Amino acid sequence: MENFVFQNPTKLIFGKGMIGQLAKEIPAGKRVLVTFGGGSVRKNGVYDQVKEALKDFETIEFWGIEANPKIETLRKAIQLGKEKKVDFLLAVGGGSVIDGSKLISAGILYDGDAWDLVLKGSEEKTLPLGAILTLPATGSEMNRGAVISRLETAEKYAFYSNYPVFSILDPTVTYTLPPYQVACGIADTFVHVMEQYMTTVGQSRLMDRWSEGIIHTLIEIAPEILRRQDHYELMAEFMLCATMGLNGFVALGVRQDWATHMIGHELTALHGLTHGATLAIVLPGLWRTLKQKKMGKLVQFGERIWQITQGSEEERAEATIQKTEAFFKSLGLPTRLSEAGIGESTILEIEKRFNERKVAFGEDQDVTGTVARQILENCR
Ligand code: NZQ
Ligand code: ZN
Repeated sequence: MENFVFQNPTKLIFGKGMIGQLAKEIPAGKRVLVTFGGGSVRKNGVYDQVKEALKDFETIEFWGIEANPKIETLRKAIQLGKEKKVDFLLAVGGGSVIDGSKLISAGILYDGDAWDLVLKGSEEKTLPLGAILTLPATGSEMNRGAVISRLETAEKYAFYSNYPVFSILDPTVTYTLPPYQVACGIADTFVHVMEQYMTTVGQSRLMDRWSEGIIHTLIEIAPEILRRQDHYELMAEFMLCATMGLNGFVALGVRQDWATHMIGHELTALHGLTHGATLAIVLPGLWRTLKQKKMGKLVQFGERIWQITQGSEEERAEATIQKTEAFFKSLGLPTRLSEAGIGESTILEIEKRFNERKVAFGEDQDVTGTVARQILENCR
């Protein structure tokens, strides 16, 4: 196990009706910028609950943070926040609204253009941010990451700021999610765990089993969730899986990969493909390309999750990849670039971008532009 420092300060407030606790979490007298997406919260009652809970606060609303939040939109929110001298932020929505609000919380205290902060990669001088999560997927409600896009140049980069001070998770608000978003959220959660698990064996028994516990749960509940999305216990489990998958708990002392995500972000930046859908395409191809070095872990995963116990290591690893791909398909997601209408020119563009940026991802920092191209060729 590697050395680590762990501190996750987000207060998690979980369960039916818990949005009613909101007012207690924001210090009295704060001027709150409340951020929203495109309007789903008006239809499912979340907006009314927030309005009611914040009736004694001075609030300013900002609407329209889109999926894969764009700097072009966030600049407007930052401007508004500066003008109104807000001193607290409340994000109400999915990962995109929360991510965007993390940049807003830094941008309001920054004199220059907020895109500078994205390029810098992190900024810890921020306004306090609380969140009300409406879509289980990203873990943004309990981590310090965000992913910000720029429409003008079709770029999408990770940015780190501070953890939300609190996040409220009421599973009943997920009942109105479009089924495609639920499928993408399940895939995203699955791949977050894999980015922290699918490296080499023998690092930590405990981390392996926590990760496998999340994956076991997801695989068990996914078919039922696809049948009936308004089941409280199932959605509660899903919501907690998503949060636990990317709040640092399964990453203690172990190496991490993240190459699937970095390639997936390019597919979203270039084609607008939903985040979880990009991962379902890239992960199987990445595993096939890097099978030799991930062999031990693929075999372990196959045995513990998919009950694959027969055959050579090579055969078991391949069977593990096929089972995982079949799981993504069972969610109704594409698992090949061709199914999403993506071809050679995109593969070459991603190779070029990685080479120009001189980046290399993965647990061994060896997923260069050339390796990313090989991976994407295996996703066709
Ligand atoms: O905008 P509204 O109208 O709210 O509609 C949203 C949006 O269209 C809708 N939605 C959300 N909750 C709903 C709902 N519709 C009905 N009922 C509800 N309860 O769902 C659509 C998608 O929302 P979005 O926030 O974009 O989805 P998600 O939570 O999957 O976030 C995706 C973004 O997060 C980033 C992704 O790259 C992407 O930009 N990620 C952030 C991470 C992090 N901060 O740690 C890690 C992830 O790997 C990921 O990269
Ligand atoms: Zn993700």
